[in-house]
Amino acid sequence: MKAIVVADQAAGLAGLKLVERPEPSAAINDVIVQIHASGFVPTEMAWPSTWTDRGDRDRKPSIPGHELAGVVTALGYGTTGLSVGQRVFGLADWYRDGTLAEYVAIEARNLAPLPGDVDFTVGASLPISGLTAWQGLFQHGRLQAGQRVLAHGAAGAVGTMVTQLAREAGAYVIGTGRAADRQKALDFGSQEFVDLDSDTLEDIGRVDLVFDVIGGDIGKRSAGLLRAGGALVSVVGPPNARPDNGRVVDFVVESDRAELNEIVQRVRDGRLRTNIGHVSTLDDAVAALNPTKRREGKTIIRIRP
Ligand SMILES: NC(=O)c1ccc[n+]([C@@H]2O[C@H](COP(=O)([O-])OP(=O)(O)OC[C@H]3O[C@@H](n4cnc5c(N)ncnc54)[C@H](OP(=O)(O)O)[C@@H]3O)[C@@H](O)[C@H]2O)c1
Repeated sequence: MKAIVVADQAAGLAGLKLVERPEPSAAINDVIVQIHASGFVPTEMAWPSTWTDRGDRDRKPSIPGHELAGVVTALGYGTTGLSVGQRVFGLADWYRDGTLAEYVAIEARNLAPLPGDVDFTVGASLPISGLTAWQGLFQHGRLQAGQRVLAHGAAGAVGTMVTQLAREAGAYVIGTGRAADRQKALDFGSQEFVDLDSDTLEDIGRVDLVFDVIGGDIGKRSAGLLRAGGALVSVVGPPNARPDNGRVVDFVVESDRAELNEIVQRVRDGRLRTNIGHVSTLDDAVAALNPTKRREGKTIIRIRP
């Protein structure tokens, strides 16, 4: 099968290569999915799991990409809950060969059915950003209606999901980003926007929940904005400062079939819009994943036309 691999950690995204690889086989509780569309997060090149397995053994060359939408073609021993021919989408294991390929072996529990009226390209854009937003807001952030949410990077892949889900839950959302992100953040539902390069973040007053996708100094300053009992939720590692009277949670997203179902249902009925910026073929993926200028929205690789 055709697949994108990486073997040189120092090369970053420039090290992505399109090669031929053997098709994977299904282990216990796995399915094989023929991938129609794949999502990729550029920071994957910095994740240890791209380079080693769970036992810390070298697994280069590895296939990156962890989001997928496709069709089940085989079941492993003992696999239940999914069937051959079923449309699915989901989040592949960080430590196994991923989804920038024609086929992937993946545990069935990491997948959910993809309804027939949701395009594969849309399905592949949802798992990481949708699940991250859902888990950060509701599970870790314990968001309640009426609360004020500071959504950093509000025009990005995660931030647009955070904004929409928080608004639906009855929160007031203050988005942040760069000057060029203002209109997009407002279009996705932010009620205020802070340009982090020229506005003063501290002017927004107190918030109940900070959703941090930026970290560093922005994460540190955000800790000081929390109301008593609030939560600083980070997906970019532990923040450099702790709030005086609030919780801090830094987490890595996990696959969850029930949450994937909730997310895709919202896409079908119009409550959630995806933030897809660019769609490429697998043959053109190496160039598409090495953009020469700033790209807005998620890049999706369409593996099958
Ligand atoms: N722990 C987890 O489970 C998890 C899950 C998902 C994502 N993540 C991480 O979360 C981060 C965001 O992911 P994403 O997919 O949402 O990325 P994205 O689509 O690039 O969105 C991030 C947004 O924040 C903006 N931004 C970044 N730094 C900024 C700064 N200093 N000032 C103003 N705006 C800034 C970006 O603008 P520019 O493009 O101009 O920089 C972009 O609009 C990544 O580091 C990713 O690895 C972690």
